[in-house]
Amino acid sequence: MLQKAKRLENIPPYLFMELRNKINRAKAQGVDVISLAIGDPVEPTPKPIVDELCRTTYQPENHRYPIDEEKGMSALRREVCRWYVERYGVEVDAEEECIILIGSKEGCHHFALAMVNPGDLVLVTDPGYPGYKPSIWFAGAEPYPVPMTAANGFLPDLKSIPAEVRRRASAFYLNYPNNPTGAVATPEFLRELVQFARENSIAICYDNPYIEIVFDGEKPLSILSVEGAKEVAVELNSFSKPFNMTGWRLGMALGNRTAIAAMAQVKSNTDSGVFNAVQYAGIAALQECASSIEEMLRVYKRRRALVVNTLNRLGWNYVPLNGTFFLWVPTPDGKSSLEFAAQLFEKAHVVVPPGSAYGRYGEGYIRFSLTVSDDRLEEAMERLEHALG
Ligand SMILES: Cc1ncc(COP(=O)(O)O)c(C=O)c1O
Repeated sequence: MLQKAKRLENIPPYLFMELRNKINRAKAQGVDVISLAIGDPVEPTPKPIVDELCRTTYQPENHRYPIDEEKGMSALRREVCRWYVERYGVEVDAEEECIILIGSKEGCHHFALAMVNPGDLVLVTDPGYPGYKPSIWFAGAEPYPVPMTAANGFLPDLKSIPAEVRRRASAFYLNYPNNPTGAVATPEFLRELVQFARENSIAICYDNPYIEIVFDGEKPLSILSVEGAKEVAVELNSFSKPFNMTGWRLGMALGNRTAIAAMAQVKSNTDSGVFNAVQYAGIAALQECASSIEEMLRVYKRRRALVVNTLNRLGWNYVPLNGTFFLWVPTPDGKSSLEFAAQLFEKAHVVVPPGSAYGRYGEGYIRFSLTVSDDRLEEAMERLEHALG
């Protein structure tokens, strides 16, 4: 008798839910599947963070709604702002320019409800993070894909965006260090992007959960370090990846005060914020766990080398880009990304997402995630060599 709302008709099942179901079905049949599909670190959250969660969970005052401060706990916001000054050289006002999120995915969603009108166009990179388009659809707007190609270092060519599209576009979603390609933005590109947004009155949703995951001398780069960025941009950031806290659901948005206030308005009418004890744990992360990021980078560097060496032994000639824990790898022999991902699953029981799932310009690639244990990654690489060698 019941029918779901029409707004859900165009929204496909979330990519990783589909992959997870496929993996679970295979496991149920006794197949030893290795998933290199999802960016979900296996390492535990650092101990000081867990300890702080436990300590503050025993304080009954933290069991109540965390709604005293609409934008999230002010002590955490101040700590986030200190982190931004110290690590990225960016000054942000904790009261007006910062809000605590239930992860950056939530921020992507509420940014659209806060800043985009029905019928607007919203620019998204293609390939792009699969979370953006549904958020745009939920806001009644239409995503407009801007191609990212290897020829452009996987940075969108802003000059190629037609005048009519610039006129109708109200927002632009993008992220660097980039999921899925691993590309890192240059300061020049960010300056060009801010200029483009100012000229065309476009709000930038700069989704930056991988800001800390950069290699080979690359430095973490916030869009807010660009002059004038706060006029047009909000940066989303997250505790998920730098502190192995994907399950905790904690993030932050910083930047343009109109957008931050609008997001606070949406959020206070939608969710009631993050459990206080999780917010206290976030303070512990920022105060005590910067050194665990260095250890994390050593782990991913080691795993990157393992995958790159395996691919190159198999004749790939692959050079990784400098950001994220993903490797965006061209498929061999002109195979379609779906076909090649299926081949890896059948022959090696290794799951990778096909690039086409990230957009039309993702065709011809697959993505490896380095967030499995070293043992499992070694086993996956052995299976790959066996299946393809
Ligand atoms: C580009 C991008 N944005 C947002 C997210 C979601 O992060 P969070 O756990 O902070 O919601 C992810 C997670 O994989 C991501 O890759």
